[in-house]
Amino acid sequence: MNTIFVIGQIIGITSISVALLFALAKLVSRHHRSHDQDGYGSAVLITGCDSGFGHQLARVLDDKGFVVFAGCLAPEGPGAQNLAEKSSSNLKVLKLDVTSNEEVQQAKKTVLQNLPDKGLWAVVSNAGITDWAEIEWSSIEDFQRMMDINLFGSIRVSSAFLPLVRAAKGRMVFMSSIFAFFNCLNMGAYSVSKRGLEAFADCLRVEMASFGVKVSIIQPGNFGQATNILKMKTGLDIWEKLDGERKQIFNLQYMELANEYFMSTCKEGFKDASMVIDAMLHAVTSSRPKYRYLLVSTVDMLFFQLFPFLPTALTDAVFSLSPMYGKRKALLYAK
Ligand SMILES: NC(=O)c1ccc[n+]([C@@H]2O[C@H](COP(=O)([O-])OP(=O)(O)OC[C@H]3O[C@@H](n4cnc5c(N)ncnc54)[C@H](OP(=O)(O)O)[C@@H]3O)[C@@H](O)[C@H]2O)c1
Repeated sequence: MNTIFVIGQIIGITSISVALLFALAKLVSRHHRSHDQDGYGSAVLITGCDSGFGHQLARVLDDKGFVVFAGCLAPEGPGAQNLAEKSSSNLKVLKLDVTSNEEVQQAKKTVLQNLPDKGLWAVVSNAGITDWAEIEWSSIEDFQRMMDINLFGSIRVSSAFLPLVRAAKGRMVFMSSIFAFFNCLNMGAYSVSKRGLEAFADCLRVEMASFGVKVSIIQPGNFGQATNILKMKTGLDIWEKLDGERKQIFNLQYMELANEYFMSTCKEGFKDASMVIDAMLHAVTSSRPKYRYLLVSTVDMLFFQLFPFLPTALTDAVFSLSPMYGKRKALLYAK
């Protein structure tokens, strides 16, 4: 009898505790949500708003009442014009080539002259390019161009605007990629730029924590169909850029095959960018933004979560055992 009474008491106390904990968790989460950033009186700077993720995020943040400084490479171009037409008067298109010190400083002047009461809440370093080629097919200029935009462009913009974001205890958001950690054929230059960008963002997060600035990294997978990032090229385009020595070594047929494979892989990707835009929005507005947003399909999620922790021999084997790698071995150096 006594035992039954004790068990009954334990069950009763446990149920009440669970219910209380649940209610407490809800209260805490509601409390946090109530501190999510609304746009009114705050500004956000986004780079690369002519098209793609930057363009879409600018529209969403404008709808939420932020003053949006939309950095565009070509303010007279159709993308920037379309953005200005569809947005409120709170959105300002700025000419901002992230590789130009002068344009970054000019953009800063414009931002300072138009800052709302609550200042510059966030900078979203989104501008970027991609390209594909094996390392041996790439020139030093190919690497430099990729770094100038994807890496130094983000560092240049961050350094210029950081004092304003620090004053607002705001957010720094960096657009990286799964290629920051997923070592893959043909993505050498892009991977170097994105891995460098993540190193910068990780160091910045540690340094900024004491000032209340939060830093987030966005890691999209394959969204090539949802933006303008993919520029069409052929195996012949790459082959024609090779010098005489390399033309002697490499095989055009393999380049065509690799190009077809690359393009067909990109076509399998997401056709809609909303998963990325939601993550960017969360990083800018949530009271508890994530350090990293990994944005791949549910099927691929476990693979990409595990990949950075696997031994190198195993991650290399993912490629060396693939059928494409076999064809590459047979064709790459064959004349
Ligand atoms: N789409 C994906 O699958 C994917 C996946 C992972 C990461 N990302 C990253 O997401 C970011 C946005 O790309 P997206 O997919 O939205 O492609 P996108 O549509 O091409 O947008 C990138 C924007 O950056 C602009 N840009 C290029 N060079 C610039 C420069 N020097 N200064 C300022 N802006 C410049 C581009 O202008 P132009 O169009 O005139 O060149 C374009 O408007 C990039 O950092 C990219 O690496 C994309």
